Amino acid sequence: MSGNGRVSGGHSPVVAIDGPAGSGKSTVSRALAARLGVERLDTGAMYRAVAWAALRAGLDPAAGEPVADLARSLAIDVGERVTADGEDVTEAIRSPEVSRAVSAVAATAEVRTELVDRQRRWVAERGGGVVEGRDIGSVVLPHADLKVYLTASPEERARRRHEEGAAALARRDAIDSTRAASPLEVADGARVVDTTGRTVDEVVEEVLGWL
Ligand code: CDP
Repeated sequence: MSGNGRVSGGHSPVVAIDGPAGSGKSTVSRALAARLGVERLDTGAMYRAVAWAALRAGLDPAAGEPVADLARSLAIDVGERVTADGEDVTEAIRSPEVSRAVSAVAATAEVRTELVDRQRRWVAERGGGVVEGRDIGSVVLPHADLKVYLTASPEERARRRHEEGAAALARRDAIDSTRAASPLEVADGARVVDTTGRTVDEVVEEVLGWL
């Protein structure tokens, strides 16, 4: 595999799934990975783990370099459970406090450099997989075998994320889409799927048809 994630002679496909909060990324990517028999990486959980650690260290999530230092030294393991320096943070990283802080952490270019590097290594070690996030098709794995951009109506996304609240969700979307470092956007060559009113199975079948 090349440094950019192209599979050369490998057997597992590299699939990039991007989209805003509540677009169905996690559900679709989990089902897709199961159907393909490959692993899935939730890159949002990595940014959330850094945000969680920054809050615990008493750092301003927008502080920049101190948060990047912390990201470089934090051991993050993302699987069915998520650990940060060995501590199980699976539930803690979904808290409203972390959701409020994570977009500022993710807007820090040096944090992204560190996490993008780890995400590429994750794929290289496995020879493929389903990777979900905001910049996977555009920055992390621009040569993925398949790039999918999921969307859903603002109403449906707010409904799926009712515990976060429509206003907080809209604020996070705005920061994620307008930041200078790797903003959320439809990657070149990505297939756009509107998941509004569609079942997970329907979406997964459509995506599988593109591989
Ligand atoms: O699950 P949800 O879509 O609500 O968010 P997430 O995937 O857990 O990502 C949380 C936050 O991490 C996003 O709002 C982005 O600020 C950031 N993120 C990012 O910048 N780049 C990624 N590849 C993944 C997440």
